[in-house]
Amino acid sequence: MTISTRFTELVGIKHPIVQGGMMWVGRAELTAAVSNAGGLGILTALTQPTPDDLRREIDRCRTLTDQPFGVNLTILPSVTPPPYAAYRRAIIESGIRIVETAGSKPQEHVNEFKAHGVIVIHKCTAVRHALSAERMGVDAISIDGFECAGHPGEDDVPGLVLIPAAADRISIPMIASGGFGDGRGLVAALALGAEGINMGTRFCATVEAPIHDNIKQFLVNNDERSTNLIFRKFHNTGRVAKNSVSDRVNEISAQGGAQFADIRALVSGAKGRVALSEGDVNAGLIWAGQVQGLIHDVPTCKELVERIVNDAERIISKRLSGATQKRAMETS
Ligand SMILES: Cc1cc2nc3c(=O)[nH]c(=O)nc-3n(C[C@H](O)[C@H](O)[C@H](O)COP(=O)(O)O)c2cc1C
Repeated sequence: MTISTRFTELVGIKHPIVQGGMMWVGRAELTAAVSNAGGLGILTALTQPTPDDLRREIDRCRTLTDQPFGVNLTILPSVTPPPYAAYRRAIIESGIRIVETAGSKPQEHVNEFKAHGVIVIHKCTAVRHALSAERMGVDAISIDGFECAGHPGEDDVPGLVLIPAAADRISIPMIASGGFGDGRGLVAALALGAEGINMGTRFCATVEAPIHDNIKQFLVNNDERSTNLIFRKFHNTGRVAKNSVSDRVNEISAQGGAQFADIRALVSGAKGRVALSEGDVNAGLIWAGQVQGLIHDVPTCKELVERIVNDAERIISKRLSGATQKRAMETS
């Protein structure tokens, strides 16, 4: 039994499992490993210092897999924004067929990608944003619940409500994101109206994730309470792993009159990168979600994807169908 959906058909993959864009983590090794496992791996454009570096990373990924993979373009509010148009050109000119956009006001990017025949999956955190992306002409939605690592938005609606609420309103294929890490989650996502799952944190704790083993073990040791919500006060909420840095960020932010400038140095991307590469769990912010509570090992991507799909198939064909059959017998 395989789980085939409109989403797997749209992007041409075997299993309905996507590895979302991840700053510093979404590099060729992980992307290729996920795609080779039958899922959809996604490179993170802005992890590459320049658009030319992104072109080289895409080429490198092609030497590691002949399966479909995508590129994430995250559009964040910034005083000095990265050269988005040049990154977009690098993606298009490299012949990438699948893009995950995330962040606000993606219209210009969506128009350009669609004009070049690129499949666009827009990741967002609210039904109204999903509807507006659908109107913009994206091909699929990735809906990110409050549980997720990264930016869950300001509405605080968890997946159990957000996913079916979005499914009721959206007609293009939609995958569910935030809090997924095992076969039970995949079955739940399908039951709630999604056509696949997107995972971030779970893929960080895999053999191929290009981060230090200490960080992978940190995710394994943590539980579902091991996150902090930061930047709430600045209306740019982020969910990160609980550590001394994110605790300190919240202490400072709670002081009356605190400004973003008061925490800027603590939250720099460079410090987070050091944490991931050197394995010092208190060196900077480590982005991770509540799904840490479901992570108990560090498998290869192939082992993980196969485990999720096999468990999902078993739940659907044995546990769920067994339960309905039993009930049918009881009532006959
Ligand atoms: C380390 C890390 C970095 C991330 N960086 C990005 C990013 O740059 N752009 C983006 O769109 N999402 C980013 N995300 C969010 C993921 O793509 C995904 O939406 C999220 O992790 C899903 O929630 P989960 O962690 O519960 O699976 C990041 C997540 C993690 C764990």
